[in-house]
Amino acid sequence: MSVTVSPLLAADVIHARIQALAAEIRRDNPAGDLHFIGVLKGSVFFMTDLLRAMAGTVTMDFIAVSSYAGTKTTGEVRLLKDVDRGLQDRHVIIVEDIVDTGLTLNYLQELLRARGPRSLRTACLLSKPSRRKVNVPVDYIGFEIEDRFVVGYGLDYDERYRHLPYIGVLTS
Ligand code: IMP
Repeated sequence: MSVTVSPLLAADVIHARIQALAAEIRRDNPAGDLHFIGVLKGSVFFMTDLLRAMAGTVTMDFIAVSSYAGTKTTGEVRLLKDVDRGLQDRHVIIVEDIVDTGLTLNYLQELLRARGPRSLRTACLLSKPSRRKVNVPVDYIGFEIEDRFVVGYGLDYDERYRHLPYIGVLTS
């Protein structure tokens, strides 16, 4: 079976949208230090591009969870790596690649909210609204997409395709 990746969002389109998101995030918090928590591994490229577009003081940390095998959700979220630093009184922004059913983000928001941040917001590069199972709040969304399995720009299929500079739909 041969698998191809059909382009959906070009690298320059993603780049432009991330610049706008960075400006929006800073506008909502003009003076404060912002602490970004990237969700490994899918958010790495989004995280590094977003943070390099941010004005003002920012810090970063990473967390890792697992909920997927192949293209199907298992529905069960497991914490694989916790953050390194406490969140008490910080303005925290979770950075995630995609919100699909919402189960992963729901788990992460509950976990991190319990650590006492001053504020907790979420930025997702992609959202598939038609797939939502839990109504999880997402403050910043790069692009809304249809129910297609996408890869590239950090997103994988069995750990492959993460390195693609664009986002595409996996078709067989
Ligand atoms: P959720 O818990 O169903 O919202 O799923 C979130 C996680 O599923 C994301 O962080 C991704 O790792 C993965 N995921 C969901 N949809 C896709 C996709 O289309 N391509 C690659 N990974 C996906």
